[in-house]
Amino acid sequence: MIPFDVHRVRQDFPILQETVHGKPLIYFDNGASSQKPHQVIDRIRHYYEKEHSNVHRGVHHLSAKATEAYEAARKTVADFIGATTEEIVFTKGTTDAINTVAFSFGETLKPGDEILITGMEHHSNIVPWQMLCERKSCVLKVLPVLENGTLDLSKLDQFLTEKTKLFSFVHVSNTLGTVNPAKELISKAHSVGAKVLLDAAQSIQHMPINVQELDCDFLTFSGHKVFAPTGIGVLYGKKELMESLPPYQGGGDMIEYVTFEKTTYNTMPLKFEAGTPNISGVIALGEALNYLNSLDLQGAFQHEEALGKYLRSHMREIPKVRFIGEAPETCSTLSFLVGDLHPFDLGTLLDQQGIAVRTGHHCTQPLMQQYNIPGTVRASLAFYNTHEEIDRFIAALNRSIQLLS
Ligand code: ALA
Repeated sequence: MIPFDVHRVRQDFPILQETVHGKPLIYFDNGASSQKPHQVIDRIRHYYEKEHSNVHRGVHHLSAKATEAYEAARKTVADFIGATTEEIVFTKGTTDAINTVAFSFGETLKPGDEILITGMEHHSNIVPWQMLCERKSCVLKVLPVLENGTLDLSKLDQFLTEKTKLFSFVHVSNTLGTVNPAKELISKAHSVGAKVLLDAAQSIQHMPINVQELDCDFLTFSGHKVFAPTGIGVLYGKKELMESLPPYQGGGDMIEYVTFEKTTYNTMPLKFEAGTPNISGVIALGEALNYLNSLDLQGAFQHEEALGKYLRSHMREIPKVRFIGEAPETCSTLSFLVGDLHPFDLGTLLDQQGIAVRTGHHCTQPLMQQYNIPGTVRASLAFYNTHEEIDRFIAALNRSIQLLS
């Protein structure tokens, strides 16, 4: 294995060589979506030039080739997170995966059953449960977040009870960067008989994930945050559990046999993949994970961790900076405000200097309400970022603050 070399790895990402407003691009919006290596881009082109056809449907050569590539990608995904192929359902993304569980698992719930989430959830891990609770007369509970951006674990026993049927929580907060103690929370939930959905949308690209070690019942993530295209995501679900649940959507491929009187359903995972799937997206996701497997991933994660610490320590030197989220365990995502400057103004001035950050509520409006702020500026890093980029970001931020003050 060649040791991780950020300058070599950057050569794999064509967009990182671009300029924005005449300045070299500094891409610090990886939490929203990460960039794609040419291996992934080339794989999509190869698929459409040489392999495209529908999957699971034809005896002809191209259909067999497309099916083989599609199912090989499923194996890559399964291996990447320590699952079996029967436990990997392809979805449009994390949102679609959570909605799948909210509908399907939701069908098994009774009035008065409780769903527990946390105060730091993305809207995609709030709204589907609200919709479910309305549909099935269930109760949504929210484990509070402390001022420093960690979960209030002293209240866990109060919120997680025998009434809790599912605890659905984010592994890494997209807004605060907090890394939640997933294993501990999962085991606690199991001790009261609750199932657990772990939203790994912001963790899968930053740390090794193994569903067997974690013992989560469901796990969700999006391809586009892990160097694959948009429109593809993954729902992992324990096989027996998934087999016991009703399908989410009806249509082609999810059936075993259809008559006008009754339909029987396909086995896992196809039971949850109604309709022609995003074939090129699935194959490209497999390629993105193959790409990660080809790197010194541990070295990449260590580099990223060092970047996160470097960013936080240099940001602390800027007067009037306020971090939103100061958990002891964070990943390389940092939300902040500077005095009373509006995040949008800072984001606009940074953009003019070639730097992409996200500003706003980050799809976590209840969290913004808790901190009583309109939004934040968020820098979210990936392993292809560099210390030099952080130096330039700090200089650009200082210039922007001067201009606005
Ligand atoms: N959930 C993505 C983000 O945090 C879009 O930016």
